[in-house]
Amino acid sequence: MTTQPTEPTQPAHGGIPATLRSTAAPSTPGTDALAGQTVVLRPTGAQHVAAFMAILQHPEVAKWWGGYDLERVRRELLGPHGYAIELAGEVVGLIIFHEENDPDYRHAGIDIALHPDAHGQGLGADAMRTLIRYLFERRGHHRIVIDPAASNTRAIRSYERVGFSPVGLMRQYERGSDGRWHDGLLMDLLRDDFRG
Ligand SMILES: CC(C)(COP(=O)(O)OP(=O)(O)OC[C@H]1O[C@@H](n2cnc3c(N)ncnc32)[C@H](O)[C@@H]1OP(=O)(O)O)[C@@H](O)C(=O)NCCC(=O)NCCS
Repeated sequence: MTTQPTEPTQPAHGGIPATLRSTAAPSTPGTDALAGQTVVLRPTGAQHVAAFMAILQHPEVAKWWGGYDLERVRRELLGPHGYAIELAGEVVGLIIFHEENDPDYRHAGIDIALHPDAHGQGLGADAMRTLIRYLFERRGHHRIVIDPAASNTRAIRSYERVGFSPVGLMRQYERGSDGRWHDGLLMDLLRDDFRG
């Protein structure tokens, strides 16, 4: 997973090139809740810190999202690029995006974590579809990337389910909690690939 989301910049038109703009008005990140089929993506705030810490410190999640303390949660997960994933009003996960706004390389990237009690019920796919739809329709993106650990088979399967395809193996891409370098899998999704 990518650990350094960049702050979405807000030049004219939210940085969306004219040729890539959709007919829907561009949205300012972090202002609206996004409704999925089952989940709701809620803009983050200080009220989410405790739930995010509980999710990220669970061993089943920490093995893929290591090294998050309070300060890092506040710095990287709160703000306009982050959403709490809610199921019936309860926070069950978090999902964040970053944007590359160089017009010649414009794309968005996503990272996600659900509490293990919520795994394997299609909620990850629902949250991903909801954010992907927002990034295509309201932020004018045409390409979205995600970079799970190559050994994270459940994540890879879930991402394939919404239309992501493997691009290639990134060797020794990220350092794990064991202090060793692990391979990552770059996956991408274009508008026509999306299984919304
Ligand atoms: C990755 C994650 C977001 C996926 O969300 P989810 O709601 O659990 O996944 P879904 O239910 O949408 O889909 C899971 C798919 O993987 C399959 N699966 C479940 N456990 C699996 C396993 N151990 N190995 C391989 N596939 C598995 C399911 O059968 C399902 O495939 P299907 O639709 O063909 O039946 C979630 O599991 C999670 O937060 N994991 C911990 C943190 C993490 O790994 N984050 C990703 C970092 S890139």
